[in-house]
Amino acid sequence: MNTTGHPSERLINLARTIQSKARAPFSLFRVGAVLVTSSGALYTGCNIENSSYSLTICAERVAIFKAISEGETTFTDLYLCGDAPAWTHPCGACRQVLMDLAGPDLAIHLIHRDNSVRTVTCSDLLPDHFSASDLPS
Ligand code: THU
Repeated sequence: MNTTGHPSERLINLARTIQSKARAPFSLFRVGAVLVTSSGALYTGCNIENSSYSLTICAERVAIFKAISEGETTFTDLYLCGDAPAWTHPCGACRQVLMDLAGPDLAIHLIHRDNSVRTVTCSDLLPDHFSASDLPS
């Protein structure tokens, strides 16, 4: 585990606000994410479910796809909160997407139900990951 600085209370609260925007009528599990760029810009995401369940998209991917589509390329921190009893962790698919687009050093601040925070890095969550360097050149 790696702790990179003190998590921001403002961004914890923002993640909670964004969580309330989730569209989760099927799972009833709401997730909020705030992604911070290296210049300090913020991109938010919530999970958005679909009646064709597999078309659901997670909060983390909404946030990072919004950011990439606005031309952002470098990220430092991700704040994540959900309805799990303790911490909500990124799913496997989001771990791969975050690794590819934000990199191994991204600090991921997992927000507990009681708002305490545990900070890990992307590489903590996805060791021995697949990457573009595994592809034939
Ligand atoms: N979900 C996220 O948004 N992020 C995660 O990392 C875990 C899962 C969403 C997807 C689905 O809408 C609901 O939580 C239950 O899996």
